Formats: sequence, C-alpha cells, structure tokens
Amino acid sequence: MTLSTLIVLTFSVVVLVFADHHGDDETDLSTSSREQETLCPEVRQLPEFNIFSMLGSWYVIQYYSSSEEALTYHCMRVDFRLSSGNMDMKMHLTYRYADDPNDEVQDGNMTWQIPDPRRPEHWRHTEDHYKGVYNTDVVDTDYDNWLLLLHCSDTDSSKKFLSTFILGRQPQLDVMTTNYLRDKAGQFQVDLEYLFPVNQTRCVENKEDSGKAARTVEHTLTVRNKKKSKRSRERIG
Ligand SMILES: *[C@@H]1O[C@H](CO)[C@@H](O)[C@H](O)[C@H]1NC(C)=O
Ligand SMILES: *[C@@H]1O[C@H](CO)[C@@H](O)[C@H](O)[C@H]1NC(C)=O
Repeated sequence: MTLSTLIVLTFSVVVLVFADHHGDDETDLSTSSREQETLCPEVRQLPEFNIFSMLGSWYVIQYYSSSEEALTYHCMRVDFRLSSGNMDMKMHLTYRYADDPNDEVQDGNMTWQIPDPRRPEHWRHTEDHYKGVYNTDVVDTDYDNWLLLLHCSDTDSSKKFLSTFILGRQPQLDVMTTNYLRDKAGQFQVDLEYLFPVNQTRCVENKEDSGKAARTVEHTLTVRNKKKSKRSRERIG
C-alpha cells in the first residue's frame, strides 16, 4: 500500500458501506435521480485561475465526504506546493482524530497531475490499487481568504465518491463567506447535512508535533490500522 493510497483511503474508506446504507434510505427516489448521483458533477473552468496564488497553507474550515456520516477529524490543515517544473500539485495534509486521547498529528501526502496546462485548477490523481481516477477541481477561490476544493471519482465503481474542502487562510471564516461556499458546494451534489465544520481550536503545533513529521510510513499505517480495528470493534459492539 502506498502512502497516496492511504490518503485516498482516508477520504474514501467506507464507500461500499455508505452505498449500502444510502440504498436503504433512498428507495423512494426515482431511478433517474439515482443514476445521476452515480456520476461526478461537471465543474466548469475557473477563468484566469492563478495557480501560484493558491499555494501555501490553508485551514480546513468544513469537510464533506460521501463516505463519512460523522466527522472524526479536527485540526485539519493542508499545504499546497508545485513540483519542480510545475507539472504536479502536491498536497501535505495534517489532521488529528477527535477521539484520540493522545491527540497525535497524522499526516500524509498526495500528488495530482495537472493534465491540461490551460486548466491549472483541474488536477488528476490515478490510484493503481483502485483502478480509479480521482478528479480534483478548485471550484472557486479569492486566494487570500477562502477556497472551495472538490474531489470526485466515478470511473471504477457504480457509485461515485465525492469529497469537499472549504478552506480558509485563517482558522475561522466569517459566516457570510462560509454560507456562500456551502451554497456553492451544494450545487455540486454535496449533501450539506454532512458538510461538517472542522474544529480548529487548540491546534497550535508544539515541538513534539514537528518532531513527528519524520515518522515513517509504516508507523502512520499502524496507527491508522489500529484506529480502524478499534472503530470496527465499536461498530460491532
Ligand atoms: C509528507 O511530505 C512532507 C513534506 O515534504 C514531509 O515532511 C512528511 O514527512 C511527509 N509525510 C509522510 C507521511 O510521508
Ligand atoms: C473544539 O475543540 C475544543 C478543544 O478540544 C473544545 O473545547 C470545543 O468545545 C470544540 N468546539 C466545538 C464546536 O466542538
């Protein structure tokens, strides 16, 4: 398992569970609307997008994932930078599990290709293990305060996987902007009921945290697996 798989997993672990659950909930929906839901929304080109102005550090203000019904993360932050030659977008993600008594910082990296230089806001990630292509789009941004990111895959399963970040340069975003971005996310099939605020209080990094950046992939995976099995036990119990 590669690390990028881990990140994709983080965003998509229980797609199947969700699909099952959703099927139960939505038996009353017509076939046509369900068919529509399996396809990723179309994202229009963002005119005059300046990729260099969106780089750097952001707080995750709100988070949605079609595979998660409750928010288990807090202190989520992302950092964007371009690879040398500006061919790839690289994201460093840090977060903590809200229920982790040690409040350990988790992190991971993800790399997207920028397939069309004329559309620098559209990124593509290929994941061998899932034979899936994940398309990511900067839907809108003012660069200095807020950014809406949409992440979607529908190529390899009957059910699409969709996730969204509402990002802010500061840990808090004003209500008007937040509502504007929530409305916007709603236009892309994001279920607003599950677009959760991410708690960004008491997230100040200490010396211990920065030391942990050097942790190995194996360790991250171990932590992740331990948590997963703990969760499955809780679900069973
Ligand atoms: C991700 O990349 C950052 C910056 O390059 C690095 O410090 C960090 O250790 C990496 N994290 C993992 C889990 O590989
Ligand atoms: C956010 O986290 C802080 C510290 O863990 C906690 O005191 C606060 O109640 C949380 N806020 C919300 C809205 O959950």
